[in-house]
Amino acid sequence: MRARVFPDYEAMSVAVAYVVAGKLEEEPSLVLMLPTGITPLWMYRRLVEMHRSEGLSFANATFFNLDEYLGLAPDHRASYHVYMKDHFYGLINPDPARIFVPNGAAPDPEAECERYEAAIREAGGIDVCVLGIGRNGHIGFNEPGAPFDSRTRVVKLSESTRKVNASDFETERAPERAITAGMATIFDSKSVLLLASGTNKAGAVAAAVEDDVSENMPASMLRSHPNAVLFLDEPAASDLGHGVAG
Ligand code: GLP
Repeated sequence: MRARVFPDYEAMSVAVAYVVAGKLEEEPSLVLMLPTGITPLWMYRRLVEMHRSEGLSFANATFFNLDEYLGLAPDHRASYHVYMKDHFYGLINPDPARIFVPNGAAPDPEAECERYEAAIREAGGIDVCVLGIGRNGHIGFNEPGAPFDSRTRVVKLSESTRKVNASDFETERAPERAITAGMATIFDSKSVLLLASGTNKAGAVAAAVEDDVSENMPASMLRSHPNAVLFLDEPAASDLGHGVAG
């Protein structure tokens, strides 16, 4: 796993947007897996600008989202469906038939997870997976302890994640459960770009890069991935030891 450190959030966001755009130009039918959260917002913003001003086309790409809260209908304002529509899919030119976000309101969530994995297989697997990281090292909604061989499934969220993510809701906690792409689903991606910004991610970044590879630190799994790159701003890299980042 390589780490690239940028002076600030904007520089990191622009760099990752360029990587995604470059891959899309090489392979217009790219299959992407995409995150939500605050971290990827400026990457999306830059990709939207490239679409508007430079003609970057997403028409032949396929999009999968990493996760969704269980119990939220796709039109719930805190759902990741709405997030993606507002920040990305609604602002570019995707083929709606090739946008996949887990349906948190599916009557049979287990069947929804199987359907999701099958759709990924039918698309030929993920080419580029863009990830954020939780303060506890979670990727997607794979919380500490998530088995490295897990696939898309229903998971229980940790208390800390539910608290951090509560700001999207009018309650004190985000929902209890979610559907997430699994650890193995993520690992099978040809290329993984993990984004982290801010000092509140520095501890998780350092643990993922420098401590043992362990299911207790989900992001550490990427250390054995053949093509995983960390995009960090300086605050997120601030706990890394010498010689690791650069
Ligand atoms: C959420 C999402 C993750 C995301 C993480 C970090 O819980 N499920 O996919 O990477 O939190 O979010 P943020 O970028 O807002 O810090």
